[in-house]
Amino acid sequence: MVDQKIQIKHLDFYYGKFQALKEVNLSIPEREITAIIGPSGCGKSTLLRCLNRMNDLVSGAKVEGEVLIDGEDIYQPSTDLVRLRKKVGMVFQRPNPFPISIFDNIAYGPSIHRFAAKKELPGIVEKSLEAVGLWDALKGRLSEHALALSGEQQQRLCIARLLAVEADILLMDEPCSALDPIATERIEELMRKLQKNYTIVIVTHNMQQAARVSSRVAYFYLGELIEFGSTQRIFTTPLRQETEDYITGRFG
Ligand SMILES: Nc1ncnc2c1ncn2[C@@H]1O[C@H](COP(=O)(O)OP(=O)(O)OP(=O)(O)O)[C@@H](O)[C@H]1O
Ligand SMILES: [Mg+2]
Repeated sequence: MVDQKIQIKHLDFYYGKFQALKEVNLSIPEREITAIIGPSGCGKSTLLRCLNRMNDLVSGAKVEGEVLIDGEDIYQPSTDLVRLRKKVGMVFQRPNPFPISIFDNIAYGPSIHRFAAKKELPGIVEKSLEAVGLWDALKGRLSEHALALSGEQQQRLCIARLLAVEADILLMDEPCSALDPIATERIEELMRKLQKNYTIVIVTHNMQQAARVSSRVAYFYLGELIEFGSTQRIFTTPLRQETEDYITGRFG
């Protein structure tokens, strides 16, 4: 029996009167890659943002239901949001490093959260860059501006930033859509390596990518979870016609 890292129960989500997620029930296993797929506007990004309460920042947003992470409902009023967002980190379509040095990009989190003393920062920077495969390339360039890096390196840096604050869930919203195919392949390789220690939820429009990296796939349509299962099964014998139409490109 796999451990469920995230349990989403009867989740409804509204932007004002518009219901963007409807009665979603989904359990996301620990230390695996789960892919969220579905046509544009079906609620994939909304769902990711429900997992670290980023939607709280949207005015008029309303959430009903439960999201348990490690068994704890993150929508309880007592949830420490800073701690939650550290634990459940997010990377976006466009890499968004801070406009400061490579070193400071990584050191910023651990120092503002005050869990690291100044003298520990170089070690944290090295370990985080090493984990995303950037250390050898960047160890002599740590004081350079992060925005001078390639798109792929910026995306890796953004992942390293999450590891530096000891995230254990990585939410990735179309993390490769601004990258070329070779960079995409290398980021996928990184994801496969990271899943040994992290729980990863990736949103992707790329069916090949979902098939290559994930072990489970959730197909959404108009805010509803239509089908969830092992990647192998979803791509070979989907149970629902809608899923089959979407993954074979017959949709729409
Ligand atoms: N801040 C917002 N205010 C109002 N409606 C929103 C907001 N953000 C998203 N929506 C709506 O909620 C629905 C789901 O949006 P969401 O961005 O989650 O979809 P998505 O599956 O991530 O789409 P895409 O594949 O294009 O990124 C859409 O109808 C969208 O227009
Ligand atoms: Mg989206």
